[in-house]
Amino acid sequence: MTHYIENYSYPYKTRGSGAVTRTTEKLTGLSRLSHFLVGIETIDTLIERSAVYIRDMLHVDYCRIFILAPDGHYQFKSKRPESGEAVEKIFQLVSNSTDPQRPSSLEQILDSKARELLGLKIRDCHWIIPLRVEQSQVGTLVLAKANSTEIDAFPLDTYYLVDLIADQLGNAVHRKQLNEQLENSSIEIVLALSKTLETRDPYSGAHSKRLASFSEQIARHFKMSASETRELCWAALLHDIGKIGIEDSILHKPGPLTAREWEVMKSHSEVGAHIVKGLSGLENIASIILSHHERVDGKGYPHALRGDQIPMGAKIIAVVDSYSAMTEGRVYKAARTHEEAISELKKNAGLMYDPEIVEAFISLFEEAS
Ligand SMILES: [Fe+2]
Repeated sequence: MTHYIENYSYPYKTRGSGAVTRTTEKLTGLSRLSHFLVGIETIDTLIERSAVYIRDMLHVDYCRIFILAPDGHYQFKSKRPESGEAVEKIFQLVSNSTDPQRPSSLEQILDSKARELLGLKIRDCHWIIPLRVEQSQVGTLVLAKANSTEIDAFPLDTYYLVDLIADQLGNAVHRKQLNEQLENSSIEIVLALSKTLETRDPYSGAHSKRLASFSEQIARHFKMSASETRELCWAALLHDIGKIGIEDSILHKPGPLTAREWEVMKSHSEVGAHIVKGLSGLENIASIILSHHERVDGKGYPHALRGDQIPMGAKIIAVVDSYSAMTEGRVYKAARTHEEAISELKKNAGLMYDPEIVEAFISLFEEAS
């Protein structure tokens, strides 16, 4: 995509230091945009925040980003479907054209239905730019400036910049779409595995869902990122997945386990980590599953890790897992009250559990009351 380079070089060479300063500002803005695009987590947020960023960066009045859905159509929020079809046709026309896209006055391309849907006024100067990754279109960027002529709205030195913005934006959208596809297939794997565990051990299934809910609240308390929170919840759902390989006589034994049976039972954290390690998109949660029975004093299993050696997610699951197990009870052990379970957690803070996490967990109940 190099067709604007000639347009760009002219003002750069002849406008003197003022033009150089403006160019430097724009390139700095562009570099910030590329960092900004990497940090955004979902396509919706990317569209929303990038539109504001680009609008301010280019000093235009209007910036909207439209993304092509997997079915090859745009999704417009309109009560009249014919308006959406009209805009879609224009976007396709622009995209299929081999000429460089140029800003133009509205009357030249957009009819009244399309203008209404896009929220553009008759005297706006607009610019429709396809967002492409290699030859495939992923969306369309629409810019406009109110009551402007083409040159006032988009000076020549903007052309190259807009081309680069479209390039960066197209690639960022494409990356997010690929990530979301991968994430959807990971979610399906987690749900299928969690269902398998539930069939094998109904107690573990319900217990894991409760853990995921508590874990999410603790993640929020510690302001963990969306991806860390998501991985923690998946790990909570699958923390005991290794139990699917444990024989019935041990898994369902209505009483305390013998030393040998206990050794078999303890293998579930390593078996579980091994299962998820090989699944695309779930690699990061393997270490949480592996360490969910470690203790901060180094007396846990399988590797007797201490304090900070234990992943944060595993320490969170250790707390919520113990609380849930205590309050739910077992076939051979009566359920304890909420107060008894909390006092047990406090007693073992710094030994079995991370004290900060125990405190955060207790605060969840205080906030709720
Ligand atoms: Fe476990």
